[in-house]
Amino acid sequence: MKITSAEFIVSNSDAAKCPKEPIPEYAFIGRSNVGKSSLINMLTNRTSLAKTSGRPGKTQLINHFKINNNWHLVDLPGYGYARVSKSTKETFQKFITDYFEKREQLVCGFVLVDIRHEAQKIDLEFINYLGESGVPFCIIFTKADKISKGKVQQHVAAYRKKVIENGWEEMPQHFVTSSEDATGREELLNYIDEVNKGIFENEGF
Ligand code: GTP
Ligand code: MG
Repeated sequence: MKITSAEFIVSNSDAAKCPKEPIPEYAFIGRSNVGKSSLINMLTNRTSLAKTSGRPGKTQLINHFKINNNWHLVDLPGYGYARVSKSTKETFQKFITDYFEKREQLVCGFVLVDIRHEAQKIDLEFINYLGESGVPFCIIFTKADKISKGKVQQHVAAYRKKVIENGWEEMPQHFVTSSEDATGREELLNYIDEVNKGIFENEGF
């Protein structure tokens, strides 16, 4: 898919106030600093559409970006930064769980995980929460430029093992990306394009 336009629409701290327009949207979630905002910039080929930072906690709100005038990308705040893990509801900010549970336009959540690290409890917890809530999602490995090509498949296989140990029958659909060198850009955009086509052909939601 070719990106012809990408514009910032609005920031919100309340899922109920997000844009009403009935167009498909895809949301980026994951630990603070995992690279959510950077991936949005990489996909849209913009340097600073979404605000990024070397310090965790940069994105604080639900940010809607309209792409090609007919679908939304959503940048969300990170989780797991300076938070004590308790129940899911307490671990993940209420407006984020509200967003995932109530947002009718949400087609797929992209759960970002840093490919360098072993599966983290908080990410497995969030994946299970999405599963229990019936929210479709994919796993996106980020920062693939930071490990050798040979290690990439090894890390994905180790992650798959953890996900299965955590109760999943199989590894959910996943993508390997790098915002530094645009690894995974075509695959991810093609995936979104295919899903969008299915929705547009069926005249929306
Ligand atoms: P919060 O908004 O705080 O939740 O963080 P975020 O997940 O949006 O992360 P962000 O995109 O701001 O990136 C965090 C840091 O990681 C920045 O210093 C980025 O430059 C760096 N980074 C993000 N993606 C990549 C990548 O693919 N490769 C490398 N090498 N660095 C990356
Ligand atoms: Mg961010």
